[in-house]
Amino acid sequence: MNLIPITSPRFIEPELLTTLPDWSQIFGNQNPVALEIGSGMGDFVAQMAVLHPDWNFIAIDYYNKGCLKTCKRIDKAGLDNVRVVRDEARAFLERCIPPESLRAVIINCPDPWPKQRHRKRRLVNTDFVNFLGGFMRPGADFYFATDFDDYGLDVADLMPQVDTFINVLAPDHYRHELEGYPLSKYMLKFMGEGKRIYFVHYRRC
Ligand SMILES: C[S@@+](CC[C@H](N)C(=O)[O-])C[C@H]1O[C@@H](n2cnc3c(N)ncnc32)[C@H](O)[C@@H]1O
Repeated sequence: MNLIPITSPRFIEPELLTTLPDWSQIFGNQNPVALEIGSGMGDFVAQMAVLHPDWNFIAIDYYNKGCLKTCKRIDKAGLDNVRVVRDEARAFLERCIPPESLRAVIINCPDPWPKQRHRKRRLVNTDFVNFLGGFMRPGADFYFATDFDDYGLDVADLMPQVDTFINVLAPDHYRHELEGYPLSKYMLKFMGEGKRIYFVHYRRC
């Protein structure tokens, strides 16, 4: 497959990610590291990086054009606390993230796989949340957002059953607005179509 090359200094070449990297060396500091899975065009991570200059962000997506656009955006804004990775999230986590290390994991508008027979392809389910929990430090935030009613309700229902997380939004299981949380490209698109976003926010115990 011919990939448009990404030459940004904030793009981490796949060759550097074959084993566990030294993240503090990559970012040049010891700040906590947050991961956005499926970062798309990078508009969300760019806003978060401005809101949290004392966090480092890894934006991961397996879509090359998205990684390229994210790099252009963060390079233009001079956001030194963001790095972009082109990879599949599960494989990347297993290979490149130490256990109980992440400060936050963020998943915005993951592919909804709306057809009933495709639902098992959805990224977020109980197994995946348990898997993620293993890479998150105690106190780490987990954010999930979707425009898809059924996906939002599914995740809101499964989270209380994962006993390593507590609900930050209790007694609500989800909200349709989350103060201080930036809006991603897809969120804005779906809100423009009159859809509501389901926000879920939990914290690792
Ligand atoms: C619907 S888009 C949402 C993009 C962005 N988060 C937003 O809200 O605007 C979902 C993105 O997740 C990426 N993606 C889906 N599954 C992934 C996985 N397992 N690992 C990495 N990226 C993934 C896709 O390539 C796509 O860019």
